[in-house]
Amino acid sequence: MKARVSVHRDFRIGRIDDRLYSAFIEHMGRAIYGGIYEPGHPQADENGFRKDVLKFVQDLKIPAIRYPGGNFVSAYRWEDGIGPRDKRPIRLDLAWRSKETNQIGVNEFADWASMAGIEMMLAVNLGSRGLDDARNFLEYVNFPGGTELSDLRRSHGTEKPHGVKMWCLGNEMDGPWQIGHKTAVEYGRLANETAKAFKGFDPTIEAIVCGSSNDGMPTYPEWEREVLEECYENVDHISLHKYFGNNSRDTLNYFGKIEETGRYIQTIAGVIDYVKAKKRAKNDVSICFDEWNVWYHIREDDSKRIKSWDWPEAPALLEETYNFEDALFVAGLLNEFIRRSDRVRIACIAQLVNVIAPIRAEKNGPAWRQTIYYPYQFASLYGRGVALNIAVDCPTYDCNAADDVKYLDVAGVFDEEEGVVTLFVLNRHLTEAAELNVGLTGFSPVALSLHLSMAGYDLRVGNGPDQPDRVVPVPGSGIGVEDGALKGSVPALSYHVLRVK
Ligand code: AHR
Repeated sequence: MKARVSVHRDFRIGRIDDRLYSAFIEHMGRAIYGGIYEPGHPQADENGFRKDVLKFVQDLKIPAIRYPGGNFVSAYRWEDGIGPRDKRPIRLDLAWRSKETNQIGVNEFADWASMAGIEMMLAVNLGSRGLDDARNFLEYVNFPGGTELSDLRRSHGTEKPHGVKMWCLGNEMDGPWQIGHKTAVEYGRLANETAKAFKGFDPTIEAIVCGSSNDGMPTYPEWEREVLEECYENVDHISLHKYFGNNSRDTLNYFGKIEETGRYIQTIAGVIDYVKAKKRAKNDVSICFDEWNVWYHIREDDSKRIKSWDWPEAPALLEETYNFEDALFVAGLLNEFIRRSDRVRIACIAQLVNVIAPIRAEKNGPAWRQTIYYPYQFASLYGRGVALNIAVDCPTYDCNAADDVKYLDVAGVFDEEEGVVTLFVLNRHLTEAAELNVGLTGFSPVALSLHLSMAGYDLRVGNGPDQPDRVVPVPGSGIGVEDGALKGSVPALSYHVLRVK
């Protein structure tokens, strides 16, 4: 297959918000307890945080992390997680039918996030609770001192306020499964009042309102319209969530879901524009894709197990083991986020450790990186700067998820300070290599400074505690610079990071 790619220095989509490479972690399963925190583990520090997990997290250079949920947040009492640990209550977590010990709360999580070099993005409970509890939480977290709640924080040993700027107004409030589920108008009004109160406290706060739980919801995309009509002027972002899978074992259709996601983003961008125009509003609302990942390998098994178990503490839940195909999918999805970065400012891989996660941590055992860790890491490390509008001319295919899907998926980012262009190249063809001819206009001199590749693995193969490095990136070959263009061949079903300086 021949593929002609045109990259031009002046054809720009815009500057990518670094927060496009953020993550999400929830109090559920073994994400927090047994994930980032396992006192007594040989790798645990004096506060019980696993250093091996932390190192893998640090290597991702994650800009922001959404916490503490997820469905969990919709019945969460933030006060349960503060103060002396031996006084903290054990509660039932109704979302995941488990017990929550509250040994980690906002202050401990903030300590971990600071060690990981990540900014916190907090969610408030707008399911079982409301505006008053949300504003109390904000005051506890962000006010310097001299009020009851800020002094309470200081008495808990956290002298300085956390200065959290990103606040999620509830979680998936359109979902009938959500505790405290609401209609769009009910929720939109509550979100508006909460956002107003938060901005009254600090106008620089960014409020994230809940969009649909996914684009298959019966109320999508009316939900977004109705919610935004209630709160447009007071919010900064609207959330999108989407999880992916390949139950039908149809690889090309799986990859086609990347284009489907592009349509989802485009639709919500259209709804935002419509409401903005209707309200004659001046402010812009962007998209915060704050839950995305692959979730299907053990999804059904988990939903059966959860119904029958007896409220365990930190049970193994949603511990998907990813394969090479999933890594290729994640690479393509991140490419789509780069291409849509004019509208998507924040995106969070869901989740980070153990629960549908790029990092796994065995109880009393090793931590290891899943296949999807690598495309996420490369996007985060090399995908910062200006997103380029790249033209790709290559054969296409039709599938259930989308028509005219290009076999070659390319995204590009220009780091102006370093003068480096990074191309993320995914060949989704099942059998054919792509003969690349990448024209680079406006960049000179041109030399390939880095080529990393993931190729040649069986699609169903993944990593595990015993074989942690079975599927890993390696230095690539077969591409070189010729007459100022990149030329060469990338094999079928392969992913490449090409850095040109
Ligand atoms: O990430 C797992 C769950 O998926 C989250 O709790 C919820 O928001 C979504 O449905």
